[in-house]
Amino acid sequence: MTTRAVVIGCGHYLPSRVVENAEFEATLDTNDEWIKSRSGIERRHFAAEGETTSSMATAAAQAALKDAGLGPDDVDAIVLATSTADFTFPSAATMVQAQLGMTSGYAFDVQAVCAGFIFALTNANALILSGQAKRVLVIGAETFSRIMDWTDRSTCVLFGDGAGAVLLEAQDGDGTASDRGVLSTDLNSDGRHRDLLYVDGGVSTGTTGYLRMQGNQVFRHAVGKLAATATTAMERAGVTAAEVDWIVPHQANIRIIQGTAKKLELPMEQVVVTVQDHGNTSAASIPLALSVGRDRGQIKPGDLIVTEAIGGGLAWGAVVLRW
Ligand code: UT7
Repeated sequence: MTTRAVVIGCGHYLPSRVVENAEFEATLDTNDEWIKSRSGIERRHFAAEGETTSSMATAAAQAALKDAGLGPDDVDAIVLATSTADFTFPSAATMVQAQLGMTSGYAFDVQAVCAGFIFALTNANALILSGQAKRVLVIGAETFSRIMDWTDRSTCVLFGDGAGAVLLEAQDGDGTASDRGVLSTDLNSDGRHRDLLYVDGGVSTGTTGYLRMQGNQVFRHAVGKLAATATTAMERAGVTAAEVDWIVPHQANIRIIQGTAKKLELPMEQVVVTVQDHGNTSAASIPLALSVGRDRGQIKPGDLIVTEAIGGGLAWGAVVLRW
């Protein structure tokens, strides 16, 4: 018998304000055609005044709990992936814990930028496998609209806000790749590339700062590193690409998503794509795609999923799980 961390509920939250590409044409030297053809993005959601990473994360967590038919006190831990916590501290996760009305257990943030959900899922899986938690809410939530330089056309048209959550539960498996739950994980980082994608503010500057990205340099690393980490995770899980039902990738750029699928020799019909509607929501993008993919009827119980992401750090990784 092997313990597995099985997804028993998922949900998401998107702010109501939708901004189409054309809206940027009024203030920037850009256009819908450039944004769509270079990134695949058509629109994104932006948080309203008063909406925060923790409030969106709470809404996504509530949806996941409702989906599972459980309440906040049925959860032992919250692991929240974000780079845009409401405050420097406390963690946004503890704010979610309070907003959910959860009076026991523990909560903490994980910060690995766009790869954050992969790192959070891996940590939550480890908590479950080591017996330190039976049920863990794993959330990705971001308010990247608050760290955009609205004069920088090379970044501000690419990102959006939102949150997604999954509820993991310890269940018994037989130790094979037929088990439901997380089957394998692979994490990587290389801090030598920190200048490719960073925020130029923080405690050392006393400012919140703005996102800065050498997009084409990040692009150069993305496809190869994503295909490699996905392949490593599949090998660890003992599965081949032919057995995979869905790739659920980080949603940064449709060309990266297509390039990675091609390297993995999987057709785009087996890729959950939400980038056109959400833009790049950093750590929220994978749980958003899982939840939307499930709601669309794409992801079904028993499906084998490979999920992968890369972002600032650089940090990247993949998780193989059976839904
Ligand atoms: O999620 C975390 C990880 N991040 C990513 O994975 C992002 C990876 N990078 C990308 O998605 C792409 O590199 C971008 C979408 C950011 C950019 O696409 P690109 O094909 O790499 O374009 P580029 O940066 O090489 O820029 C090409 C041209 C430049 O003009 P020149 O120098 O060729 O005259 C830019 O100034 O496009 C120009 N440009 C724009 N033009 C119209 C940059 N932004 C815009 C814009 N509208 N918004």
